[in-house]
Amino acid sequence: MRKTDIIVLLQLCVLLPATQQDDGGWMTRGKDRIAQLGPCNIVVQDGSLTQEEFLERYAYSEPVVIKGASHNQLFQSRTRHTALLERYGHMTIRLSSANSYSYAKRDISFRDYCDHHLHPQQLTTLGNETFYFFGDNNGDEWQDILDLYQHPPYYLPYHLPALSFGLAGPGTGVPFHFHGPGFAETIWGRKRWFMYPPDVNPNFHPNRTTLQWLIEDYPKMKDDPNLYECTLLPGEIIYFPDKWWHATLNLDSSVFISTFLSP
Ligand SMILES: *[C@@H]1O[C@H](CO)[C@@H](O)[C@H](O)[C@H]1NC(C)=O
Ligand SMILES: *[C@@H]1O[C@H](CO)[C@@H](O)[C@H](O)[C@H]1NC(C)=O
Repeated sequence: MRKTDIIVLLQLCVLLPATQQDDGGWMTRGKDRIAQLGPCNIVVQDGSLTQEEFLERYAYSEPVVIKGASHNQLFQSRTRHTALLERYGHMTIRLSSANSYSYAKRDISFRDYCDHHLHPQQLTTLGNETFYFFGDNNGDEWQDILDLYQHPPYYLPYHLPALSFGLAGPGTGVPFHFHGPGFAETIWGRKRWFMYPPDVNPNFHPNRTTLQWLIEDYPKMKDDPNLYECTLLPGEIIYFPDKWWHATLNLDSSVFISTFLSP
């Protein structure tokens, strides 16, 4: 190692702990209403939650937020803005429309997406006309980075995990929808979650964005005891049981990953 390298390393060691709010270079921050964390009425556990407790209390019955159980510093460092652009900038990615039943797709280069599409979500833009990167990345190109992800340390018997990685600007998110059970983790940025149990039908328009729902509908529903919500910070994990409705809102430019569990 050269002397200059050692000096740079030393500087990094001294500087990094003092750097407040390292955002991985994903600099856009949500403003005003977008950025509000909101309340959290989902049970929060720490990493001492055991697999037995997870199965007994949450797996088949209610969502849970787990703090301190993720050890993804390596994955986090590889998903910094500079690292991802260097590795994947030239690659074509497939965007999905951000409505409840994401049908439409659009192809774009990863660099173009990072440079021009991570701006804050416009309040007037509909979900079916908003495109962002989540889901379509189980292709081989992303495998080496997905391999670095340490899965949440809990499992459901007879289910296999499939990873899905995403990146989106402040104010984006997917409106209410449901599917099988799984975990989601924010790697960079904060992400707000809204959930309803399977037997409750949330009031929402499938082509309107979560941001539009937050501003127009949420004020009328926020005291509904069936509405579960919480904001995840980087390194926190949320578990959504089978068929629970959920809507998401990225408060910042966010990198996130989901672990879908299929029988
Ligand atoms: C998006 O959805 C709205 C409302 O459902 C609809 O009026 C509009 O035509 C749709 N846009 C596109 C591009 O399909
Ligand atoms: C939502 O948008 C899609 C595609 O843009 C359209 O085909 C569908 O009819 C719209 N749904 C509603 C309920 O307006």
